[in-house]
Formats: sequence, structure tokens, C-alpha cells
Amino acid sequence: MTQRYVMAIDQGTTSTRCILFDQRARLVSVAQREQQQYFPQPGWVEQDAVEIWRNVDRIVPRALADAGISADQVMALGIANQRETTVVWDRRTGTPVGRAIVWQDVRTEELVREFEDKPGANAVRERCGLPLATYFAAPRLRWLLDNVAGLRDRAERGDVLFGTMETWLIWNLTGGADGGLHVTDVTNASRTLLMNLATLAWDDELLSFFDIPKRMLPEIQPSTADFGQTKRVVPGLRIAAALGDQHAALFGQTCFARGETKCTYGTGSFLLMNTGRELVRSTHGLLTTIGYQLGGEPAVYALEGPIAVTGSLVQWIRDSLGLINSAPEIETLARTVDDNGGCYIVPAFSGLFAPHWHSEARGIIVGLTSYITKGHLARAVLEATGWQTREVVDAMNADSGLTASTLRVDGGMTADHLLMQFIADVLDVPVMRPIVAETVSLGAAYAAGLGVGFWPDLEGLRRNWHLAARWLPHMDATSRAAEYANWQRAVELTFGWAQP
Ligand code: G3P
Repeated sequence: MTQRYVMAIDQGTTSTRCILFDQRARLVSVAQREQQQYFPQPGWVEQDAVEIWRNVDRIVPRALADAGISADQVMALGIANQRETTVVWDRRTGTPVGRAIVWQDVRTEELVREFEDKPGANAVRERCGLPLATYFAAPRLRWLLDNVAGLRDRAERGDVLFGTMETWLIWNLTGGADGGLHVTDVTNASRTLLMNLATLAWDDELLSFFDIPKRMLPEIQPSTADFGQTKRVVPGLRIAAALGDQHAALFGQTCFARGETKCTYGTGSFLLMNTGRELVRSTHGLLTTIGYQLGGEPAVYALEGPIAVTGSLVQWIRDSLGLINSAPEIETLARTVDDNGGCYIVPAFSGLFAPHWHSEARGIIVGLTSYITKGHLARAVLEATGWQTREVVDAMNADSGLTASTLRVDGGMTADHLLMQFIADVLDVPVMRPIVAETVSLGAAYAAGLGVGFWPDLEGLRRNWHLAARWLPHMDATSRAAEYANWQRAVELTFGWAQP
């Protein structure tokens, strides 16, 4: 019998990957290309959407060739993507009006402050579940409309289109200027500040608050839906799912029940807790977002705590301070000492995300004495990720009334055993890592495969989740409380450290 597969494209912040999975959710082939990052001014981060599209054009055929399979063996394609990164392009030529503005870009800081002072600002969170922050797409889109000459007129005439990366890729894959579909899914739309969380539609009040022409926005679909057939790259693939990458990771980790929680540890880290059909409005600094929506079923909501700096703190120690030569060495260095020696690092490099949302906070190292060595600093670096996780999990438990009784983890930093043990210790719950580490791609593949009947149901997917490693908590309650109090004092010191 001919073997069948599902394809996932994971368009991430640093690279784009194409992965094929078989029916037992085993990874069959991977093709990957990195994209260039542009930093034209301090705080600005850009990418070339055309380069990303060309990368897709190369990796999709390569993944098929490496697996030795043909396009007609691929039952469905699922797309997961970096969220909030904003691109606007001409619908007739397909040419972007400028580089894509990446989710880390903070050029809209002043604009966001203006929005905060505007009448109606208080209702924003109620409608879309998000605080006003530079992180989301709407301020970026508004910035483009204000700063690219003639763009607002073109938008109002319907000549230009807005999208996050899944929208850009689906439009191109399904024909581009030659009839490409202009669509997004609920998870990505839930990161724009423009979608009403209850109705799952663009919210007219929010569009008017941000002054965004509706004509340039894509049509919102469930995460599992008919996103058309590819006409370019490899024609004939059925695009059956699209999700923001962190939502895909929640799905790939099979966090299908209320209270199930995952964290993806990368340059930043993203915790999501499934809250089921209940739309939980956060009062503890989290985002309310869509976990996923399968076809015509009601949406499954989630609480999210994004943490801006985790792995990138390790990169900073490596590249800017030169204390280590490679990222994995941070663990070796941290193991040269027994504890942090009283030293704490709060990496508020460009403010703090959840649960604080202080864009003006700046990073600090506290507790320095002549006793402190490189080893203590390395520990403080890893512990910063642990404590930031704890802050978010506390907020999740408080907001939802549920308890994250375990934490499912994935991402590059999960290779660090010292860190994973520390996280189990400070959360006081087991931390678990599955065998298939590519949870973003797997989640996109699962959603697409479910959509076309390749996998029958969620229970079947759960059975594919196999434990690779588990860390159990060992820290005593008194030390945990004392250390957490120290961390919290350190965090408070960062709040006032903006330029006068
Ligand atoms: O919200 C940003 C997030 O989606 C980026 O994820 O894994 O591409 O860095 P990643």
C-alpha cells in the first residue's frame, strides 16, 4: 500500500522548516533555511518576506526529495508561523511595501503610549484579550499606514493586503497575484489586537480605534479549515490547517484538556494553558488567546504568558560578554558552583512581557560581591528563565482557577538538565519532555491531518505522545519561597530604570 504523509511548514523567527510526518507522527524528513534579520535602528527588527517565500520554495521540494516521496502522497499541509510579524504587499504585483516588521520590534513604543491615552483604550483588552503593547500587529500596521507614503490611500482602495506570515505564505502558495487566497486563522488573528475574542471576527470598534481599513485584512478561518490548494512551489497540496507557532506547540504537545500547559523554551519562551471553551479574562497580566479551533467546532481558548528573553540571555552571555563559547556550556559553567551566591539577573532587555508588561523596564544584575564568579552568573542566567516561568504559572493558576499540575516542555533550552530541574523545583510540579521535540511542526501537521481524516481524533494523537525525560521537584519549600522573594525584589528594581 502507498504510504501517506502530512507536511508541516514552520515559519519561525530565525528560520523556516518543512517537515514530513508519517501516520505514527514520526519525523520522516526535514529541510530548513534561515532568513536574514535586519536591525536598521536600535529596537527595530525586520525581515524580508520575499526571502522567506523563496525559502519555502526551496525547502518544500527538498523535504519531499529527501523522503523520496511524491506530492500525491501528502494528504495535507499545515502551516505554523511566528506570530505578530507584520507584512503588507501589493495585491497586483505581490511586492511587499517594505520589509516585514518582526514581533520583537519596538518602534511603535510612542504610538502605543498615544493609544493608551486615547478614549476607548480601556475597552481594548476586554474585546481582544490583549494589553496595548508593541508586541502585537495592529500598532505595526498603523505605523506602516502612517509612515509609508501613499499606503493609506492604497489600503482604502483595496490595492494592498495585510498579513502575518501564514497569510503571506498561503496567499503566495495558492496563486499569489493570480488569485491567491487572502486568509488567516483564529489563533493568528487573536494576536493582532483587532479580533473580537467572543465573536472570532474583526471588531469594528477596534478597527476604528486603531484606524485600520478593514479592506486590507484577511478572512478569518478556524485553525483547521480549507485554506485552498497550492498552485505554486509544489502544486496540488491541500492546505488544511494554519496556526500561530505557539498554539501549534500546544496542539503538538496534545494539551487538549483544560489546565494542560506547555512551555516552548527558545530565544524567548511561551507558556500556554488550555482553558477549554471558557474565555478567561486575565487579571494577572496574561494574554487571553485562542488555543485552536477545529473546523466548525467551538474555539478552545488559552491563557498565554510570553517571556521576551530566556535563551537570548544565554546568547548575550556568550556573544556580548564572552563568558562561554557555546550555549550548552552555560550548564557546565553553572555546575561549577552549588548555588547563585546571592546573585540575580533580570533580563528586561527591552522591557518585561508577562506578567508585568513594563516596556520601560531595563535589565539588572543584583547581589554582586567579590565572592561572585562566572559560575554564579551562569546560574543566575539559567535561574532567570526558571523564575520567569514561575511568575507566569502563578498568574495562570490565579486567573484560571485551574492548576498546572505538570509542565510539558519543548524547544532548544530543554537540553539543559540543570535548568529543567530548576524549573521543576521552582514550580513544584513535574516537568516533562516528549520524544518528538518538533512540537510546533507536529501540531501543525496534527491539525492538518485531523482536518482531512488522516488521524481520526484527539485521543489517537494523545497516544503518539511519548515521554523522553521527566524532572521531579526536589527543592524544599522554605528555600523556594525565600529565593522567589529575592527574585521578585530584583524584578521590582527594573521597573524604574528607564531613561529619565
Ligand atoms: O509571538 C512570537 C512567537 O510566535 C515567535 O516564536 O519560535 O518563531 O521565536 P518563534
